[in-house]
Amino acid sequence: MKRKILLSALLLPAVMAFGQQYGGMWIPTELNEKEMKSLGMKISAKDIFNPDKASIKDAVVQFDGGCTAEVISPKGLLLTNHHCGYDNIQAHSTVENDLLTNGFWAKDMTGELPNPGVTVDFITDIKEVTAQILPGTENLTGADLTKKINENIEAYKKVQKTESYQTISVRSMYYGNKFYAYVIETFKDIRLVGAPPSAIGKYGSDTDNWVWPRHTGDFSMFRIYADKNNKPAEYSKDNIPYTPKHFLPISVKDKKEDDFTFVFGFPGRTTEYLPAIAVEKIMKETDPAMIAVRDVALKTLDEKMRINPATKIQYASKYARVANYWKKWIGEVEGLKKSNAVEKKKQYEQTLISKNPAIKPTIDQLNQKYNEQAPYNLHKAYYSEIVRNSETFTLAGIYSNYIQSYEAGKMDAKNLEALKARLTELYKDYDAELDAKVTAKVLALYADKTPPQFLPKDFGQLKDVNKNLGMMENVSKASIITGRGNMNGVKATDVNKFFTDQKTLVENLKKDPFVQMYGSFKSSYLATTDAKVNALQTDIDALQKKFMAQQMETDKDRKFFPDANSTLRVTYGQVKGSEPRDAVSYGYQTHLAGVMEKYIPGDYEFDLPKKLISLYNSKDYGVYKDKTGDVPVNFTATNHTTGGNSGSPALDAYGNLIGLNFDRQWEGTMSDINYDPKLCRNIMVDTKYILFVIDKYADSKWLLNEMKIVK
Ligand code: ARG
Ligand code: ASP
Repeated sequence: MKRKILLSALLLPAVMAFGQQYGGMWIPTELNEKEMKSLGMKISAKDIFNPDKASIKDAVVQFDGGCTAEVISPKGLLLTNHHCGYDNIQAHSTVENDLLTNGFWAKDMTGELPNPGVTVDFITDIKEVTAQILPGTENLTGADLTKKINENIEAYKKVQKTESYQTISVRSMYYGNKFYAYVIETFKDIRLVGAPPSAIGKYGSDTDNWVWPRHTGDFSMFRIYADKNNKPAEYSKDNIPYTPKHFLPISVKDKKEDDFTFVFGFPGRTTEYLPAIAVEKIMKETDPAMIAVRDVALKTLDEKMRINPATKIQYASKYARVANYWKKWIGEVEGLKKSNAVEKKKQYEQTLISKNPAIKPTIDQLNQKYNEQAPYNLHKAYYSEIVRNSETFTLAGIYSNYIQSYEAGKMDAKNLEALKARLTELYKDYDAELDAKVTAKVLALYADKTPPQFLPKDFGQLKDVNKNLGMMENVSKASIITGRGNMNGVKATDVNKFFTDQKTLVENLKKDPFVQMYGSFKSSYLATTDAKVNALQTDIDALQKKFMAQQMETDKDRKFFPDANSTLRVTYGQVKGSEPRDAVSYGYQTHLAGVMEKYIPGDYEFDLPKKLISLYNSKDYGVYKDKTGDVPVNFTATNHTTGGNSGSPALDAYGNLIGLNFDRQWEGTMSDINYDPKLCRNIMVDTKYILFVIDKYADSKWLLNEMKIVK
């Protein structure tokens, strides 16, 4: 007895460091209700998720397979982020009517805009099905294990009774130690209702991305339509607004530091249970490699984007996408160092071993396998980032696959159409001369950083950046895939013509300098690295499954939650500011005055719409100001969130909507690997700012009239 107390006391610091006190992304049927209540929650776990009765889960959806959204009116009105609705807002935009720049507000339901292909998913039930999925898998690993699990999943699905509009998805948790089945209802008629201009919805753009203090009105609104029976249906003008089982009331009460809050949504991917060795490799090797490639690519793009407005437009979205994770990884590395993640994990492993010696061989083997995999994994990180960031190599990859398909007789009309569509899309925003520079520079980095045994023949000579720039420019001019060279007078950018004589095209492609260069790049990767990384990963997966099970068996004081995997989760915490650096202290709330402080007229990131400025000048804030007399804009809390949580509702102790999650604070982006409540903060748009913009800026009172506002 005494021994036990001693050991759990030993475990305590590690437990706290892993954020169990306030962290975790919980399966909604397995909430940590006791701690939620102790932090101030006034409703019960059953109010949040109840398969048999309307509950908060009936207002939370996965938006188009990636982000989260929530229902905020009895007429199926949906709220999500501006950056989640971005592609749809863009799709409705033309040069004459640019909804991204100007914003969009339907005047009534007839003015709402359909978005073919966009879906939202409700989760109506969750069941643990481990006992149905694991039998017969006991001694299997790798491909055999996957095969048996898939068979068991199919067998399980077959005997379930579902409606025509429902599907079942069975998902692995805890590295294959448990399985859960989700009943999903997918709605397919989703219409755009409103979006602020980018100068509000994307205010601060890349400079402020991942940054606190933040001042972004990152929201947009859609509506779910259903058939006459309120069931999911394809788009039809006869469809009616969906009547939800539940919608979120919206609170406009002032927030206080330490207020309880929870976030309900679809976090994408985290890895909280890795061994120390894996975290060390991410921090010291793979993250820095990926950052280095993107450093070079982004800097090269920026040089031209700065001086050429057409390039600026052409590359804006690509640049933002590459910069988003580049910036995240930089914060992640810093945060892992600062939170002492590797040391803490090592200590935790020792504590576990002292309690259960059977864990030692697992950790020893993990150490051995990760060390063995490291050089291959590092090569893989460089390789993948090069292919992603050199658009010319991306193109060469596509053409190489095409050659293979053509020669295998698989290029039917349908495949050809899809290929042409993809190429048209790529060439639209492709500046071949600029990308020749990017390609030259990232390949110089690659040649410099890659050990000789991995380097393709002749790539050793690519180390000299200046020589490379000249050489790539010449190759780019001669190549037919860049659209600078031509094939009998036809350019690749003229996609339809380019594919009229496929036999000649394939002959010419095989001789193309970029297709050849990419060919040796890829075959050297395949020969030296690919199989090795994957084989070691299979071993690591098996060990990680065992390590996960051993952690759960051994650390009885810790409450475990499965890593994020894009399934529905609840995370909770408190409204809180932060102290990210020595002598730096951040408040939890920003205001409209702060939006004005950042205003730079004419700037592409910090310009503001005139109307917002005049609302600020006239102080026409109505009920949307807080006790300071200003309109709250963004706030932070200790909710444990990740990518995919964008658009998730932030709720108060009673289940009222108080904010819209959209980002995390840079100093805490290591939360995906080592959540630390001292450093990690999620960032939300305040509901008061959202309502202020809808009401005072957009004059869309008809939308407010649908909502239930809690004062
Ligand atoms: N960092 C946030 C997330 O990972 C927001 C990204 C969108 N905004 C941007 N400026 N790129 O998705
Ligand atoms: N911005 C992210 C998203 O789009 C959220 C995050 O990473 O915190 O899901």
